[in-house]
Amino acid sequence: MSETSLLVEKRDGIALVTINRPDKLNALNTQVMRELDDCFTAIGADPQVHGVIVTGAGEKAFVAGADIAELATQSPVEGREHALRGQRVLDGIEGLGKPVIAAVNGFALGGGCELAMACHVRIASENARLGTPEAKLGLMCGYGGTQRLLRLVGRGRALEMLLTGEMVDAAEAHRIGLVNKVVPKDKLLAEAEALLRKMLANGPLSLRFTLEAVGAGHEMPLAQGLAHEATLFGLICASEDKREGTVAFLEKRPAKFQGK
Ligand code: COA
Repeated sequence: MSETSLLVEKRDGIALVTINRPDKLNALNTQVMRELDDCFTAIGADPQVHGVIVTGAGEKAFVAGADIAELATQSPVEGREHALRGQRVLDGIEGLGKPVIAAVNGFALGGGCELAMACHVRIASENARLGTPEAKLGLMCGYGGTQRLLRLVGRGRALEMLLTGEMVDAAEAHRIGLVNKVVPKDKLLAEAEALLRKMLANGPLSLRFTLEAVGAGHEMPLAQGLAHEATLFGLICASEDKREGTVAFLEKRPAKFQGK
């Protein structure tokens, strides 16, 4: 495969990351996962990038899953490593510290649905179809799907999707909270960018600490999550952004945030 299984375009503080294997419906093979890992590590460290949109190349798919040809030949040890590596890459996206929006432009199945769920917000085009069909292949989710689907849509709906392996269309995905919004196909990237720019107009530290509080809070009992939130709130009170944001409000002018 060529070196371009991932296209990365940076513009005005936003990185557009496109999974680029349209002939295989953007299936996540070893190379794509390695490139995703490298790409998000670089984006995390790049002060010029403040937010990310992830989408799939071509007309049909966001990502139609992990690469079944690779899965077919994996030993138990390789399978475990495959799942751990995939989980680590997706954890890296979820823990980026900068907002990541999935622009779901078609099939988001298996690892593709798991990738979309690791992003912070999902916008789908009307033709999108999402699902976790692993059970149809005698497999199960390995990139966090059992955990993130449960948390996003609740136990009953998650188990229905996981155990039947059936896809849901964009409208149903919206109804059950799997995607935030459904838009016409030709407006998908513009809508994703507009939403991301609304976020990026706010204080960068506010975004980072909020992502951290929500992310870490998932794993904590409520009292611990609240204590963590209070600590981050205290930290942000020491920031330039907090001073600028509050003073700008009182002076009735737009804030100029520095991310400090
Ligand atoms: N891994 C590897 N290759 C995949 C793939 C995957 N997850 N999903 C699609 N492809 C490949 C197909 O094998 C086909 O390759 P080919 O042209 O060399 O034969 C190509 O992408 C186009 O897919 P095709 O099945 O012909 O398109 P379709 O429009 O008829 O069907 C889907 C679309 C999404 C319904 C069907 O491709 C599918 O069911 N894919 C697998 C989904 C899945 O089970 N994902 C979870 C994996 S754990």
